[in-house]
Amino acid sequence: MEPREIRFVRRGELVSVGNVPPARTLLELLREDLGCTGTKEGCGEGDCGACTVVVAEPDGDALRWRAINSCIALAHGIDGKALWTVEDLASDDGTPHPAQEAMVRCHGSQCGFCTPGFVMSLFGMYRNHVARGEAVTRELATEALSGNLCRCTGYRPILDAAQAMGALPVAAVDEARIAALLSRPAFAGMTVSELLAARAADPEAQVVAGCTDVGLWITKQHRQFDRILDVTRCDELRRVDVTDTHLTIGAAATLTDAFAALVADRPQLRAFAGRFAGLPVRNAGTLGGNIANGSPIGDSMPLLIALDAHIVLASVRGERTMALTDFYTGYRRNVLAPDELLVRIEVPRARPGEFLRAYKISKRFDDDISAVCLVIDMTVTDGKVAHVSIGAGGVAATPVRAAKTEAALLGRDWTEAIAKDAAEVLRTEFQPIDDMRASAAYRTQVLGNLMRRYWLESQGMTDINLESFQLDEAPE
Ligand code: FES
Ligand code: FES
Repeated sequence: MEPREIRFVRRGELVSVGNVPPARTLLELLREDLGCTGTKEGCGEGDCGACTVVVAEPDGDALRWRAINSCIALAHGIDGKALWTVEDLASDDGTPHPAQEAMVRCHGSQCGFCTPGFVMSLFGMYRNHVARGEAVTRELATEALSGNLCRCTGYRPILDAAQAMGALPVAAVDEARIAALLSRPAFAGMTVSELLAARAADPEAQVVAGCTDVGLWITKQHRQFDRILDVTRCDELRRVDVTDTHLTIGAAATLTDAFAALVADRPQLRAFAGRFAGLPVRNAGTLGGNIANGSPIGDSMPLLIALDAHIVLASVRGERTMALTDFYTGYRRNVLAPDELLVRIEVPRARPGEFLRAYKISKRFDDDISAVCLVIDMTVTDGKVAHVSIGAGGVAATPVRAAKTEAALLGRDWTEAIAKDAAEVLRTEFQPIDDMRASAAYRTQVLGNLMRRYWLESQGMTDINLESFQLDEAPE
């Protein structure tokens, strides 16, 4: 992808910007090229949410809305989409949007640096929930704002603002008109065949999807890319299909969409899914990107390993399917050939009687990276372990399967003594490293402790984790 023109809808009109380099971030485009400095830069790495904007895409006659971090999104990613920044919310006569008005009324801003980002996350929630007549609960507000940090206000007034928006005069958007503008043939994406042909023709081009990691290579390592192949241009790879036996998740499906499908099939994953980064990162990042990136501390791979997921790699030469564990060959290395792309993830549906738990240990509960991630999926039949699969992250150079621990459990009676033995095996199965997230000794210790927790939860104890504590509504 050479520097080229991008076209998008802003304030209801088609906008075009020429000669945009492939690695230009959306935040750079806004602040430096368009002079729209209302959108702020804080961390430049998808952590603080100061740069949050909202993008929308056609969904029939309506729009699908997503709040994303513009600091790590590529400008090219909004080609063919609609964009809202904090400068686009007030009506023509200057009336603030309910997201802005509620922040004023609830005193949700002090220094104000984080405020544009919070307002945009509130705007995304307004379109996805308030505009559809849904009430905003404290829980929903907390999730919608999970990717925004504020140093000075404290979160209560901002959460109050989230819940106050619905009582203010409605702010409407003509979704059908914008959807029609974006549904022109000129905005059509690529087919899978076209994508694979492009990969074969230029295996050196940097493959990107949601850019929630590649964006950091640009902002933090100052890397540049002459050519980029964006797999999110292929609608087929963004689909999630559900059959009686499997979830088929396109590699370019967002983490939000992929986890929604996984949680619909296995509701016990809801809390785990909600702790994968913050919402703007999940709205942009893709399941295939998380897998192909291969970080040993990525959260989706331990889960997919425990669920016995398979992945499909494709090229113009054909497709091949493999267990996820066979994909990795070392630290951030995998078996992809130069002309291949990861195109789908096949996840078996929930088994009757399975007991699945996914644990994430991190320093912060929300919006943080795992020190250790452990996912255990077991079926006990007539008191014996009939099936067990365990995926782990943060304990080796790649996401891994705890094969020795599985062997220590399979076919055995599911008793406290066996669970204790399994915890010991798990503690010795890997040799984790010391780093800024945790020491090796801590990781080793916590692995066994999580097996203990799994045992207790399998015996009906439900109040032994942070997820079981609910936020109380603030007293009036
Ligand atoms: Fe912090 Fe973008 S500037 S998330
Ligand atoms: Fe100052 Fe949020 S109001 S950082």
